[in-house]
Amino acid sequence: SLHDALPIYYGHHSKADLVKVLVTGGAGYIGTHTVVELLAAGYEPVIVDDFSNSSPEALRRVAHLTGVESPFYEADVRNRDVLERIFIEHNIHAVIHFAGLKSVGESVAEPLRYYSTNIDSTLVLLETMQKFGRSNLVFSSSATVYGNAGTPPFTEDLPRQSTNPYGWTKAMIEQILEDVVATGHGWSITALRYFNPVGAHPSGLIGEDPNNIPNNLMPYISQVAVGRRKQLAIFGGDYDTPDGTGVRDYIHVVDLAKAHVAALNHIEHPDVYKVYNIGTGIGVSVLEVVAAFEKASEQPVPYAIVDRRPGDIASCYASPDLARDELGWEAERSIDEACQDSWNWQSKNPNGFQD
Ligand code: UD1
Repeated sequence: SLHDALPIYYGHHSKADLVKVLVTGGAGYIGTHTVVELLAAGYEPVIVDDFSNSSPEALRRVAHLTGVESPFYEADVRNRDVLERIFIEHNIHAVIHFAGLKSVGESVAEPLRYYSTNIDSTLVLLETMQKFGRSNLVFSSSATVYGNAGTPPFTEDLPRQSTNPYGWTKAMIEQILEDVVATGHGWSITALRYFNPVGAHPSGLIGEDPNNIPNNLMPYISQVAVGRRKQLAIFGGDYDTPDGTGVRDYIHVVDLAKAHVAALNHIEHPDVYKVYNIGTGIGVSVLEVVAAFEKASEQPVPYAIVDRRPGDIASCYASPDLARDELGWEAERSIDEACQDSWNWQSKNPNGFQD
């Protein structure tokens, strides 16, 4: 059986029996916050990242914040030699797979790069886990798999679909994971479907640091508030929502990081594939985010309402009940707290990790 050393019953461990967790993409926005929460929960992260959308400084900050320098491998997850070396050098009990490309617009322009990076890396990871008899995986999925059908709150039973190559990579990987579990070879896999991750660690040491011009709302607003950009363009003021602007479910990145710890704690049963929404269940409009950010930062956020962005939907928020009932996880941080923490990070690090 693949379960030579498994299942591992987490939750009772002390410093004496640390459980090693491989974190792919561990230098990224969600990855760094998760590494911090893993360490706080008594896990021992091992990180692989190729710094394609992250920086060594992020890992130095994590080490400073936690007092722990986690083993690190600089590599693309498609690099089978490095992956095998990691499993040889460490007794990896579980993997959290964040590594991947995540820009919708880029994926439309470069679908092959997106399919290769996201899907091939997952296949190499799964093959390596199989080779070394490791079967516990938490995968970083997205609410993007709900596509543009259905009405919120979205529940996990809706069929997977997408509107762009990035979203299809998430939907396809979920299908691959489901098929792998269905072999009955003892895999235990959880896919977490994130809604809109925002905020930063309250220390202000780590946070979101997008390359170039941010595509997402919160980093764009932060850069306007800090004076790096003139004004926010609000994509559409005529949606069928209470104030006409788009409604989303903004999940604080620390809550999101804790959801991964909760998912690991529940990986106990073989031959189970589970999917959970990770959101607050609360829909917040673009104008509400702007107001919350102005309040938190005490800075003006000038904006202009412009045309809708192609591919956007009016409203997207989670039904978070399944994660609460089965993982015992719930979002605890509000949009106000997320704005305070984003501002704290942005104002202390106006140029991100480059300072
Ligand atoms: C986007 C992706 C989604 C991905 C998620 C990851 C698209 C169409 N979707 O979600 O697949 O999983 O990021 O975080 O790109 N907005 C503005 N002005 C801006 C930026 C955004 O008005 O400059 C609005 C958008 O129209 C939307 C809301 O803010 O109503 C949130 O946008 P964004 O942060 O880009 O996230 P999503 O589009 O929800």
